[in-house]
Amino acid sequence: MRIGVLTGGGDCPGLNAAIRAIAYRAWMLHDEVHGFREGWAGLLGEGSAQVLTSEVVGGILHLGGTILGSSRTNPARSDDEMRQVEANLRVRAIEGLITIGGDDTLSVSAKLSERGFAVVGVPKTIDNDVPHTDYCIGFDSAVEVVGDALDRLHTTAESHRRVMVLEVMGRDAGWLAVAGGVGGGADLIIIPEHPTSVDAVLRHVQKRMESRRFSIIVVAEGAHVDGLEFGDAGGAVDQFGHAQLSTRGVGTRLAVAIEQQLKVEARPTVLGHVQRGGSPSMFDRVLATQMGATAVDYLHEGHTGVITALRGLEIVPVPFSEVVGRNRTVDRRYFRLVRQFNLAEESDPSLMR
Ligand code: F6P
Repeated sequence: MRIGVLTGGGDCPGLNAAIRAIAYRAWMLHDEVHGFREGWAGLLGEGSAQVLTSEVVGGILHLGGTILGSSRTNPARSDDEMRQVEANLRVRAIEGLITIGGDDTLSVSAKLSERGFAVVGVPKTIDNDVPHTDYCIGFDSAVEVVGDALDRLHTTAESHRRVMVLEVMGRDAGWLAVAGGVGGGADLIIIPEHPTSVDAVLRHVQKRMESRRFSIIVVAEGAHVDGLEFGDAGGAVDQFGHAQLSTRGVGTRLAVAIEQQLKVEARPTVLGHVQRGGSPSMFDRVLATQMGATAVDYLHEGHTGVITALRGLEIVPVPFSEVVGRNRTVDRRYFRLVRQFNLAEESDPSLMR
């Protein structure tokens, strides 16, 4: 077979491990692999691709980012662009395409699949919000970064009797905030799935500071906190219609509100793209290797229009139709786990149910 591969959307650790696995598995089956550059952009216009050789994919397993480059290009916005994608696949005689991406990349993959092309999606996103897969590539590595930041914030918070507010990524789902916050010992975790208010946060912090020297709050960038003034963040909107959340500033605004209203020192830390960079964890390397190799097998079996989902210890195919346009938000079981550590729970149940 002649197989195409691309990485789309926000990058994350583990993409190169997946590309490498796709190439190795494909070569074992005597396939040729073409890597399209910068996501769907590599399939528009003249197209931009390279044949993957052992020189190209050798030594990339442990590297963060993606050797293919990535972008938030959305060809599904116009029929003309979808035709360009198909034409570029035809020009290179690609018989099957593997797309490594999150919700947006997978939604374009679904459209291409509906038009009759053989596509298999590999789920990746540090937000971990692709439905029907226990984990997405990149999430585990990002959780480690959040945990490390919280360990560091703990010592300085305690020394200065401060409130530390750590803003982490997570547009619609708070998986990173919950996993990082529970593992890193935050005393309050605020996620998009569960709106709260400044008043509720202030009550929590006040109570906490009565008994402890410091407080550690983790807030997801997309969280809704009633009473915070956001105004016009002025950030750009991408081709999928998502506003840039880094300019929204929920963490910084929360820290300012705490300091002004409670008269305790509060400091924000916005972790940002540090969460998306660096080497993948061992878990992500293994997951990416399993998913990448399985995607090649699915193409050979004619099992297309699906993603390679992790269920327990197994990789299983899940149709695009069950995945796209949906968001896997944090499970209520995790809310209960978080609650055990929330000292303010009895003072304000709205903080985390
Ligand atoms: O890929 C998802 C994500 O990590 C979101 O959590 C975050 O809002 C976004 O990427 C940031 O994207 P960009 O790199 O385009 O600013």
